[in-house]
Amino acid sequence: MRLAVAVAREHAERARRWLLREGLIDRDRRIVQKGGKVEIPVLRAPSSLPVPFSLLEQQKPSYAPPKLSFEQLKRELRSRVGEKAELLRGGWELIGDVLIINLPGELYPLRREIGEFLLDFHPRARSVVARRGIGEELRYPQAEVIAGDINTTTLHREHGCVFRLDPCRVMFSAGNIEERRRMAQLPCKGEVVLDMFAGVGQLSIPLAKHARPKEVLAIEKRPETYEFLEENIRLNRLQGIMRARRGDCLEVAPRDYANRIIMGYFFSPERFLPKALEALRGGEGVLHYHTLVAKEALEKEGEALLERITELGYRAAIEYRRLVKSYAPRRWHAVYDVTVG
Ligand SMILES: C[S@@+](CC[C@H](N)C(=O)[O-])C[C@H]1O[C@@H](n2cnc3c(N)ncnc32)[C@H](O)[C@@H]1O
Repeated sequence: MRLAVAVAREHAERARRWLLREGLIDRDRRIVQKGGKVEIPVLRAPSSLPVPFSLLEQQKPSYAPPKLSFEQLKRELRSRVGEKAELLRGGWELIGDVLIINLPGELYPLRREIGEFLLDFHPRARSVVARRGIGEELRYPQAEVIAGDINTTTLHREHGCVFRLDPCRVMFSAGNIEERRRMAQLPCKGEVVLDMFAGVGQLSIPLAKHARPKEVLAIEKRPETYEFLEENIRLNRLQGIMRARRGDCLEVAPRDYANRIIMGYFFSPERFLPKALEALRGGEGVLHYHTLVAKEALEKEGEALLERITELGYRAAIEYRRLVKSYAPRRWHAVYDVTVG
């Protein structure tokens, strides 16, 4: 049955937001106006609404256009905001049902039109967020909801894992998806694993869930992010093998503990190397070392990393290296898998 909620125009926006929050809007059909009422297509009947409403079965629903690519969408957007639409670059990220775009300053005055447009067109978006960058040390995003629900806490599903997070308050990078998948496939059966910069569990949860380690300890410094991390351990039912520890890994990481260490933080990561090496069980194991490099220096930076480890009194070899994503002009996020001992 193609159900819709019919409300008076003055209540339509409130009803739409409420239905969005409840996940009840049927995005395959358009919101239409008929006989002075607004019809909002719904997937099933709501038990209540904060405004007077009636429920009806739509006879001739108007279907939403099929999903568009970012480039097609920009062409559509041009009809609303003119040539400035071309300034929108870099695609979007969909984290759960929150759609994130990078909004250049010139488009800021048009943010509401752009946001509403994207909300109408993207079949899965409940909120549209404009991002202006991420603070360095604790990776706090600078973001603003430009359309839809202002509550942006969402549930993101990926590789058989779920992550509860608020992308406006914590970092979760779509560009790291391959790295998250790789963690799930590492050969770490029976290992003890330490995640020194766990975030909401982006890297250690897929590992804990699929790679059969014996034990995982995930450290996170920022209280707000730590709360999501703890919740995600529960949501993924990993309490039996994974635990979270709050604090600065320089202070709370255990010594002589792990067979494998994830160092997923790329601002001056060399500061954390001595601590990571100390945390390896018997001084041996694998480090997943993330850093920022110039694209052409991937190999050279790897050699410099080995030199630093040697200076600290350990023997090491690089087993794997990869550019993860472009981070800024001439700066790439890179990862090195280093075997120590
Ligand atoms: C960039 S996020 C990365 C999350 C995940 N490792 C990934 O790569 O997708 C880095 C996280 O490390 C945390 N962090 C930064 N410095 C830290 C420290 N000294 N000890 C523990 N956590 C730290 C930040 O709060 C942030 O949540």
